[in-house]
Amino acid sequence: MEKVSEIVCESPSNIALVKYWGKKPVQIPTNPSISFSLTNCKTTTSVKLEDKKDSGNKFAFTFLFEGEPKPDFHPKIEKFLERVASFIPNVLQHHLIIDSKNSFPHSSGIASSASAMSALSRCLYEWEIKLTNRENLDIKVVSNMSRLGSGSAARSVFGGFAMWGQSYHYQGSDNEFAIQVPDHSDFFSDLQDCVLLIDKGQKKVSSTVGHDLMNGHPFAEKRYDQAQENLAKLLTILKGDDFNEFAELVESEALTLHAMMMTSSPSYILFRPNTIAVIEKIREKRASDNLPICFTLDAGANVHVIFPKSVINNAMDFIERELVGYCENQAYICDQIGTGQLVTIL
Ligand code: PMV
Repeated sequence: MEKVSEIVCESPSNIALVKYWGKKPVQIPTNPSISFSLTNCKTTTSVKLEDKKDSGNKFAFTFLFEGEPKPDFHPKIEKFLERVASFIPNVLQHHLIIDSKNSFPHSSGIASSASAMSALSRCLYEWEIKLTNRENLDIKVVSNMSRLGSGSAARSVFGGFAMWGQSYHYQGSDNEFAIQVPDHSDFFSDLQDCVLLIDKGQKKVSSTVGHDLMNGHPFAEKRYDQAQENLAKLLTILKGDDFNEFAELVESEALTLHAMMMTSSPSYILFRPNTIAVIEKIREKRASDNLPICFTLDAGANVHVIFPKSVINNAMDFIERELVGYCENQAYICDQIGTGQLVTIL
């Protein structure tokens, strides 16, 4: 093996346009989803390998988050290593030193699991490739490993648009790994995502619990069919330049995600009053000024404002004048579609 001391991966977060909501064991989505990767919201993870001292323990690792030991994260990492062990048998003969940091503040309400799990998966698999003297990395394996850490992380290994989950409409789509969606027009190639931080607090109901509540949900089957249809429609929309059609579909997906939460048993609401206020303002603006701007939501109160780069000045002017006042401490993060993971081998 060539001399390697450390493998570092920067991996982006992503925002889904057609949402993944509901899963079967182990981490198999009940419907396909499509997202685009971001640029600024990312996790940087470094992995070093040392000799394993105590051969009694199955997994030996040290985990640092932003330079500090974080024992709270250990159970999650152990579960993840258990799931991906068959992909990285040689790596797991070592003691792993994992050091991870996010580019966005911890309390910002931005989900970090997609960027964190995809960064860690890439580092570990790159190490396995080095230890076994292989030439080529199979990105599907990295995506598969990422999925086993956090479903939406499967899509973060790619730049641009990625889809995950079997679709009747897209050859090569798969439940175990994401694939890149290369067919889109220039119009959609520079999408911006301005994340309005409406509520930075901890979510009342985690995504894990939310996914579970789709089991036995009265509208689940209908929703899974709708997601299949929406995915097919979005794939067509992305090849054109009709922003209104895009906005109609993306906003409906976001509201449907929350409708599922509001109609599950028990039901719950992650919106805040300001989420609705912002949504209404965006819709009014699009209608009155014909500005190509729309929203999507994650499983939380924050609003992702999406628009093409060509209108960035008008969009940011509108956001700063009319929307930022609804954010907690006026906080927002500007981001845009990105190029995917960056690996450095030291
Ligand atoms: O990856 P998870 O298990 O945190 O679920 C994420 C689900 C959504 O973010 C709400 C939608 C999606 O497709 O990313």
